[in-house]
Order: sequence, then C-alpha cells, then structure tokens
Amino acid sequence: MDFAVVLVSPILLLQFCVRTLRNFLRSIISKVPWQTAPRLQGESPALPPAAGEEEHAAVPTSVNYHFTRKCNYKCGFCFHTAKTSFVLPLEEAKRGLKLLKESETGMEKINFSGGEPFLHERGDFLGELVKFCKQDLHLPSVSIVSNGSMIKERWFHKYGDYLDILAISCDSFCEDINQVIGRAQGKKSHIENLYKIRQWCRQYKVAFKINTVVNTFNVDEDMRDNITKLDPVRWKVFQCLLIDGENAGEEALREAERFVISDLQFQDFLDKHSSVSCLVPESNEKMRNSYLILDEYMRFLDCREGRKDPSKSILDVGVKKAILFSGFDEMMFLKRGGKYVWSKADMKLEW
Ligand SMILES: C[S@@+](CC[C@H](N)C(=O)[O-])C[C@H]1O[C@@H](n2cnc3c(N)ncnc32)[C@H](O)[C@@H]1O
Ligand code: SF4
Repeated sequence: MDFAVVLVSPILLLQFCVRTLRNFLRSIISKVPWQTAPRLQGESPALPPAAGEEEHAAVPTSVNYHFTRKCNYKCGFCFHTAKTSFVLPLEEAKRGLKLLKESETGMEKINFSGGEPFLHERGDFLGELVKFCKQDLHLPSVSIVSNGSMIKERWFHKYGDYLDILAISCDSFCEDINQVIGRAQGKKSHIENLYKIRQWCRQYKVAFKINTVVNTFNVDEDMRDNITKLDPVRWKVFQCLLIDGENAGEEALREAERFVISDLQFQDFLDKHSSVSCLVPESNEKMRNSYLILDEYMRFLDCREGRKDPSKSILDVGVKKAILFSGFDEMMFLKRGGKYVWSKADMKLEW
C-alpha cells in the first residue's frame, strides 16, 4: 500500500506534512527574483530559507556522489553524461564527505558513482575515498556503482575490506544487445567480466549487486537463469528514465527517446521475473526524486523539473543550505526501499 510507511509512524507523517507545506510555500517563493549574490552558471537561485526551514531540511542519510562524469562506455540511454571532465582534488572531496558525515543527522551510506568511477587514476582516487569513508568516517555503508570494465583484482586486494557493496550494471546477457546499447568497450565481453567480478566479490567478501536498465532492446529478455547463477544480494531493475539536458532535449549529449518503454512494458518485465526474490523495481516515478545526488562539484542535483538543476556546492555553503535545493523526496526514498540492510557486517552472507 502506498502510504504504508507513513501509517506505521505518526512522527514520519507529521514530518511529511510539514515538508509538503514547506515545499508548496517554496514553490511560490521561488517565483520571486531574490538573488543578489553572484553564482555559477546553472546554479539554483539562492533563495532565503523560509522560517524554520533549516530545522526541516531533508536528511542526508544516503548520498550518491557522482565524482566524475567521464566514462569509457557509451550507453545510449545514459542520464549522467560527460558534460565536464572536472574531478575535485582528493582532499577537497574528503572534506565534503566529512561535512556530510557531520551534518545534523549524519550521512550513513555513501554510494560512489559517475561516469565510470574506476576510470580516474585507475581506481585509486575511488579506493582512497572508500577507505576514508570506512576507516576515518566509520560509515555503516560504503558502496560503488560501476560498469565493471576497469576493475582489477589488485583493487580488491588493496581496498576490498573497506567496501560493503559493489553494484555492477548489466542490461543484457546477450553481447549483441550490449553492443547496440553501447554498454561495451570495443569487443571486450561485458558478461565474462561480470562473472569474474562476481567471483572476486566472493573472494574478497564484498556484497555483490546488479543494476539493470529496462529499455526497448532488453524488455523481452528472460534474465532469470543468469541472475540466479550470479546470486546478487540485490537486483535493482530501473525503467529507463529521461532527464532533460542529459539524455533528452537540445543540449543533451545523448538521445535516449528510442530506449524508453511504457509503464506497461516495464510491468511485463517485472512480472516475468517475479520469481527472483532479490529483485527491487524502480519505475520512473519512484526513481526521479528519491536519490540525493551530488555532482562533481559537490552540488546537489534537483530532478523535480525533469532536469538536473544544481544547488550551490556543499564546500561553499555547507550541507544544510545546499540540501534545501536538492529536490529530495524522502517519502519516496523510504517507499522505494532506500533504507535496507546496507552494511556487509549485518548481511550474514555466506561468502
Ligand atoms: C550513471 S551510471 C554510473 C555508474 C557506471 N558507469 C554504471 O553504468 O554502472 C549509474 C546507474 O545509472 C543507471 N542509468 C544510466 N542511465 C539511466 C537511465 N536513463 N535510466 C535509468 N537508469 C540509468 C546505470 O545503468 C547505472 O546502473
Ligand atoms: S551508464 Fe553507461 S555511459 Fe553512463 S556512466 Fe554508466 S557506463 Fe558510462
């Protein structure tokens, strides 16, 4: 039931109502041109917070840091494209992560994404952030989403202890379809690599997850056998999403319209795979505003208008101010099962 999460907690219901009212007021306030200070191109106007707003700001429990936009793949539907090649210096990135941890309620889970996160400094930049988050910040959950193509065994050897979950994206178990999608580099087999990484995850005790984007080219595929063999802790199944300026519209680097499927087609895919117990579906509606996304400058990206509108950087204005412009829908985050057992220590896995 849609509001089950709310019904079990009256406090949550109260918080939800306050936030809804606040968002409504903000949508009115946002029509007024308040801006006085100079700002970077593309940043959201610095609106003054409404009275009491800071006390009710979204909680950065689980954050997705897309520290790079560069990638070695060319997935035709990609919604986080190489619009810049900027990556923060390591110490600045660590400072931002520390700010998130020290923010009011404190970040508990960080997910590193991109672009391809293993590309920059051959995975060492990522490794150092993973280590810092586990060893210094003591975050309960540290995870990565990757296409898997750049991961080497020595990375697991050096950093595997500090990583809770590794998610590898795989949209098809047919190499030809991966080529059509663009989820490939040259003729290298994405699937062979996926199986190799699965084995390393067992060996180095990292929980293994799979992400799949359902689109025009894989919607009729039956993935049950392969998913059962790979045995992930979680299989995230996304409906292909359009984001203006990323994979749709004039300024976009990708044109993903030909990948888009209907809600009915998405449901058919889910029905076909209903026997897979680790499947976690994410329709467009569930996905759009239920992630706290930080870009390469550590700006929150607000997807409410169907684009990614950036806030100011948390490095410049702090977490509390920047998060007001994140567009984060905490109820949807809970509804999509965003909070789960996310420390490998608590998963009781038989490696
Ligand atoms: C942007 S990618 C970055 C990490 C890495 N390069 C990868 O592909 O796993 C993060 C996740 O978003 C998914 N994704 C990309 N474009 C999407 C879209 N249009 N709709 C839904 N999910 C998408 C990817 O498949 C991947 O699981
Ligand atoms: S979805 Fe594909 S193109 Fe986009 S970042 Fe991931 S691997 Fe690269």
